[in-house]
Amino acid sequence: MSKLWGGRFTKQTNKLVEEYTASIGFDQALAEEDIQGSLAHVAMLGKCGIIPQADADTIKEGLHTVLERIRRGEIEFSVSDEDIHMNIEKNLIEAIGPVGGKLHTGRSRNDQVATDMHLYLRGRVVSLVGMLHDVQAALIGQAKDNLDTIVPGYTHLQRAQPILFAHHLLAYVSMLERDIDRLKDSYKRINVLPLGAGALAGTTFPIDRHFVAEQLGFDGVYENSLDAVSDRDFIVEFLAGASLIMTHLSRLSEELVLWSSTEFGFVELDDAFCTGSSIMPQKKNPDVPELVRGKTGRVYGNLMGLLTVLKSLPLAYNKDMQEDKEGMFDTVATLEGALQLFAPMIATMKVNKDRMRQAVNQDFSNATDIADFLVGKGLPFRQAHEVIGKTVLYCIQHGKYLLDLTLEEFQQFSDLFDDRIYEVLQPEAVVNARNVYGGTATGQVQAAIGRSEQLLAGT
Ligand code: ARG
Repeated sequence: MSKLWGGRFTKQTNKLVEEYTASIGFDQALAEEDIQGSLAHVAMLGKCGIIPQADADTIKEGLHTVLERIRRGEIEFSVSDEDIHMNIEKNLIEAIGPVGGKLHTGRSRNDQVATDMHLYLRGRVVSLVGMLHDVQAALIGQAKDNLDTIVPGYTHLQRAQPILFAHHLLAYVSMLERDIDRLKDSYKRINVLPLGAGALAGTTFPIDRHFVAEQLGFDGVYENSLDAVSDRDFIVEFLAGASLIMTHLSRLSEELVLWSSTEFGFVELDDAFCTGSSIMPQKKNPDVPELVRGKTGRVYGNLMGLLTVLKSLPLAYNKDMQEDKEGMFDTVATLEGALQLFAPMIATMKVNKDRMRQAVNQDFSNATDIADFLVGKGLPFRQAHEVIGKTVLYCIQHGKYLLDLTLEEFQQFSDLFDDRIYEVLQPEAVVNARNVYGGTATGQVQAAIGRSEQLLAGT
């Protein structure tokens, strides 16, 4: 059969042009959505009397046949039919004859492809939210097991103040919660139907767009036909949301890589999530977090790619927009891959509580607390800061930590010190002193875990 649009042409398409312009190589991923959209469209054509109901029924059956054949891998898509839309239409006509040619009444590939993309992304966003919840659940599980695990908290990657390891993990639960909110919010703009916009201006047929929307479970229809076929902001939004998810996963990845190094030794990732070296027999490499960190780049790239494709494009549809797909598919696959691995990798990670404790005992991260102690005795904070700075310097010069100093040594720096500082300086006391909403005190972290679990249960 010749091209579906061959009428006004007198020559065959150049082979290289065919290959260059075809999208079937990648948009076949939209086959299910394309048929889903066509089924709703043809139901509407029949209902509105635009084509005879009997023809609509025949086309519907034909579409089901084509869908089954695609699922069974029986259809060989062809580059000369350019994209998934025309490949399906060609196969439909082959299956049921010329009546199949009535399917495209009142429709253009421009509103058709936009509809497919909306349907596709709608499904993915829902499943990605589920995967994000799984990662949250794994983090919360570890947090519950580590309510008594104290670890240095860092700023500038220098030990700053001791915190509960659970508190650190919950920071990621909060980030992912916002990521989930963003995806859910974007759903409002994804779940809108472009079909009925035609090529750009609407259609001469008395179609019922709201009926199609209802059939497909969309909350509404695009207000303006040009906008419906020419914007891809719903995909940009998804790619931006995905980029932030990867930002968060890449930060956690970086921490996992650091924490599993011999230098830190804070965690050990399960063997099932690590790989070895072909030359160094002792190696166990944290490839998964490393790759998630690395793949963050391609997700950002896909966002920048689509923004750049859309920039300055005149209305309405332009072929440039075919470039919206691969980055979106790639982003979905990259996110799914990372999230699917993260949940079990976090759940099976071994936390070396002793090693963390050792790190806390061998640092000055309790220094703020003795400054606060002196403030409690009436010393202005700025002076207390100076006193403790000198005390820490003394410790460094004498190879001691604050808890090693005798009271006499403390009192060289201020006569406000008394015996109570030894309690104040204990890591548990330091942690529990930060008893503010959102802080690291055990009670606060327990309450935060409770709130997170409630959020998760409510989903
Ligand atoms: N394959 C095309 C795309 O993905 C479908 C729409 C083509 N429309 C057209 N008028 N050439 O954008």
